[in-house]
Amino acid sequence: MTDRTLEEKASLTSGSGTWHTTAAAGVPALTLADGPHGLRVQRRSGDALGLHDSVPATCFPPAVALGSSWNPRLAREVGAALAREAAALGVNVLLGPGVNIKRSPLCGRNFEYFSEDPHLTGVMGAAMVTGIQSLGVGASLKHFAVNNQETDRMRVSAEVDERTLREIYLPAFEHIVREARPYTVMCSYNRVNGVYASQHRWLLTEVLRAEWGFDGLVVSDWGAVNDRVAALAAGLDLEMPPTGTDEQITEAVRAGRLEEKILDQAVTRLIQLVRRTEGRARFDGWDAEAHHELAREAARQSAVLLKNDGGVLPLRPGRRVCVLGELARTPRYQGGGSSHVTPTRLENAWQALGEPPFAAGYRLDGGPGAGLREEAVALAAGSEVALVFLGLPEHAESEGFDRTTIDLPADQVSLLRAVADVCEEVVVVLSNGGVVSVAEWRDSATAILEGWLLGQAGGAAIADLLTGVCGPSGRLTETIPLRLADVPSHLHFPGSDGVVVYGEGRYVGYRHYDTLDVEVAYPFGHGLTYSRFDYSDLQAALDGVEVTVTNAGDRFAQEVVQLYLAFDGDRPRHELRGFAKVSLEPGESERVRFALTERDLARWSVRRHGWQVDPGTFTVEVGASSRDIRLRAELTTPGDGYVGTLSRMSTLGEWLAHPRGGEVLRAALKPGAAPADPALMRLALGVPLAKFATFGVGLSTEVVDALVAALAQDSGTDAAPAPDTGAVTATP
Ligand code: GLC
Repeated sequence: MTDRTLEEKASLTSGSGTWHTTAAAGVPALTLADGPHGLRVQRRSGDALGLHDSVPATCFPPAVALGSSWNPRLAREVGAALAREAAALGVNVLLGPGVNIKRSPLCGRNFEYFSEDPHLTGVMGAAMVTGIQSLGVGASLKHFAVNNQETDRMRVSAEVDERTLREIYLPAFEHIVREARPYTVMCSYNRVNGVYASQHRWLLTEVLRAEWGFDGLVVSDWGAVNDRVAALAAGLDLEMPPTGTDEQITEAVRAGRLEEKILDQAVTRLIQLVRRTEGRARFDGWDAEAHHELAREAARQSAVLLKNDGGVLPLRPGRRVCVLGELARTPRYQGGGSSHVTPTRLENAWQALGEPPFAAGYRLDGGPGAGLREEAVALAAGSEVALVFLGLPEHAESEGFDRTTIDLPADQVSLLRAVADVCEEVVVVLSNGGVVSVAEWRDSATAILEGWLLGQAGGAAIADLLTGVCGPSGRLTETIPLRLADVPSHLHFPGSDGVVVYGEGRYVGYRHYDTLDVEVAYPFGHGLTYSRFDYSDLQAALDGVEVTVTNAGDRFAQEVVQLYLAFDGDRPRHELRGFAKVSLEPGESERVRFALTERDLARWSVRRHGWQVDPGTFTVEVGASSRDIRLRAELTTPGDGYVGTLSRMSTLGEWLAHPRGGEVLRAALKPGAAPADPALMRLALGVPLAKFATFGVGLSTEVVDALVAALAQDSGTDAAPAPDTGAVTATP
């Protein structure tokens, strides 16, 4: 690194503009571009909020939809198509996927994220990164970390305990880093337990690099760096866009406040990124029609059939059908903000359905739709089936702000009720990026198809699903609650005065609802098909689970087989540990296999600051959703054998349970020392050994110290470390 000046090296750790790194001292500039579901390349003015035009590109379904496909292969294909378009546009790094957990349905950016569950998020995100990088285009895994709201996102401190961080908010990033090896990770704007992610050494270096083995480059979210020197020292390699503060770096090095090797390693990582992406496949262009068809297939697999009373879907030919709702003609197909794509084309459901009789029913801007509702109701009165398109208008949700309600616009609900009064069969089709409540109006619908935001081909896909060209196969990746007040984070979202406390801890989504048996509108993993499936012959072992799934219906369909593990103790009711999407003809069966690893059985121990497998029995659950478990089996694990280090402050119970500690303690106790009264014994088991001397009961301080010394001698270590006070430090 000696042949570059400090000034040259410092310039390489900051961009040269909104979308380009700096070219200096033989290092070429790289091009970075949004976004997770389509290219947002701007030829003229650049902005990080999707305010200005961008070059036409395929708008694939955003993550809220693609995640609902539960199909990693599909996600990988979409990733590869994105890479093809990126390469053709000269882009080195595509700024996605976004893998933040959906902590609250109110988050304005939930359309860009996959799920409330870290396992599903990790598997889908890894597939997308693999697809993007399969052509040598770099991915940028974002937003690292704990960026689960838009409110005050550039300042807010997410206060989250260590175990919640490890079991909920980090695992998807960890899985993707370990399995798909993204070339870059993008740090988030927010603080984590008081420290900005952009200068959080524990996150960016100790966890991301030292623990998970990340060997790529860390780029800031746009404008997320608050202190250039602290960021570089913490492990952030590239500031985007530039802030004209390179001299802070050179001055810090010259003043000895920043080691030059830190600067050198950032430059080395940038040069590595150049090498990894300069060889990316060269495409003169890409097949827009083929990408549109892939977007259509992705959309088909992403919509979730929530309700289908009487099998009203698929629509039987020849029935008098009307289409109601402006969203059928003016589709919402993506979210607002930096991910916004200029599509190569856009299909709406009404045209795809052959333009049946149509009425707008409402205005998307929420303005008074004089006569619109009456016109729609009149049309419905003369129809056998009303297809009613409802959802959230663009101004209701976006990057940059959160919602305050999960309700549909009141005028849309009112229209639905009026239509249901005059038409026997009402099919609701939803378009929304964040979950909307359905409880107050779902009885007015015969069927409900949750269409999320389905990208530029979503209209055609919806028509395919409604008419039975294909069957619905999406599943919920986020619970639909009965009420906003039922959401576990509701009392703690979005925080105030620059702080948001993750008071619900690990109990996010179904982990809350299922543990407390809270009624929900539709559970995590739910989704109907046009067929039905039987599960049989569950076989479970510590290294894997097998089950047979059969299509018991009369048409081809896809099932998402879900594997949950349920442990006793301080754990959620159960947790997703595997899933597989199977495609079966009528009568056809498939044997589905899930591998199990120690990590699947583990929980995070704040005492060990590590993963721990407790000994004991747990339940394997296989089913069609978190609330539709079809088969169960019990397994027993010996645990990981961790016995821990006993100390003066270890309880009587911990000493007696310890293989060696129990032996030396029993030898030291006088016969008959144990209380005869079971309640008293139970009380004693919870008392730290050191306290018995305080209470003048049995064990003196000298005896306790001798016991600790005896154990330490056994293990060849000094006396046990200071008593574990149990104080939890979420992150240093
Ligand atoms: C935005 C987003 C990020 C995006 C970047 C560039 O603020 O948070 O996801 O990639 O800036 O537009």
